[in-house]
Amino acid sequence: MTRFKDQIAIITGSASGIGKEIALAFVKEGATVVIADLKMDAAQKTADEIIAQGGRALAIEMDVTKEDQVNAGIDKVHQTYGRIDCLVSNAGVQIVHPIEEFPFDQWKLMLAVHLDGAFLTTKACLKYMYPAKSGSIIYMGSVHSKEASPLKSAYVTAKHGLLGLARVLAKEGAKHNVRANVVCPGFVRTPLVDKQIPEQAKALGISEDDVVKNVMLKNTVDGEFTTVEDVAQAVLFFAGSQSKALTGQSLIVSHGWVME
Ligand SMILES: NC(=O)c1ccc[n+]([C@@H]2O[C@H](COP(=O)([O-])OP(=O)(O)OC[C@H]3O[C@@H](n4cnc5c(N)ncnc54)[C@H](O)[C@@H]3O)[C@@H](O)[C@H]2O)c1
Repeated sequence: MTRFKDQIAIITGSASGIGKEIALAFVKEGATVVIADLKMDAAQKTADEIIAQGGRALAIEMDVTKEDQVNAGIDKVHQTYGRIDCLVSNAGVQIVHPIEEFPFDQWKLMLAVHLDGAFLTTKACLKYMYPAKSGSIIYMGSVHSKEASPLKSAYVTAKHGLLGLARVLAKEGAKHNVRANVVCPGFVRTPLVDKQIPEQAKALGISEDDVVKNVMLKNTVDGEFTTVEDVAQAVLFFAGSQSKALTGQSLIVSHGWVME
């Protein structure tokens, strides 16, 4: 399939989990992908896997909270390929504590990875997208962009914030033909979620099985986890649309957890 033939897609946090699957999905549709991640070894491994399967990929070491690293990485992508068609701002972490115990440095880290990261990568890409009069930026939100859960104050704050950034970018970017949208997944079994299960069990005083059944999947229509493939397809839907009408929106992919 060639929906993204000759296109360059940068995906942050794509060495593992959801981001990696998004990269693989873009490659299947003909795109060249940039695997931008804090963990260079893992990023290179993902890029090598793609190349071994006949795809095109470039690994870049990038801490999305560091302005210099972000700018250098995005500039390198443009120098290498001469265009940037799509940015998926996906890098993320999860830290759970009740508010009264939330360490301030961890609060700041959460907001930095999700919000500074989205802002810095967006700003660096707009430098190339605006003159090219073309671009699509997709933020990895969450059901927690729309809903709150105990212990997740920093995450919920950050994920709600991404809706605001996407909406402003949709307004500012329109005259440059740059669109902005948010994908909002439910729980997906990735390292980020696997780490939370024992942490939440301890914090809530319940079993790990109860965390899965009665916390994470309780409000889905069928008790199922969302998959990385489900999320990747939603990202490609936004990225692949040629319609200027599809901007400033958010799409929940969650087995019905939170309907709007
Ligand atoms: N897993 C879920 O259930 C779920 C649900 C909704 C939203 N999300 C969101 O999806 C995104 C990806 O999560 P995931 O579950 O695949 O997690 P993951 O832990 O598998 O992957 C996250 C990736 O981000 C990278 N990363 C972390 N900090 C970074 C930084 N400062 N700079 C660059 N890269 C960094 C990590 O190295 C890792 O490769 C996150 O934004 C997360 O909030 C996940």
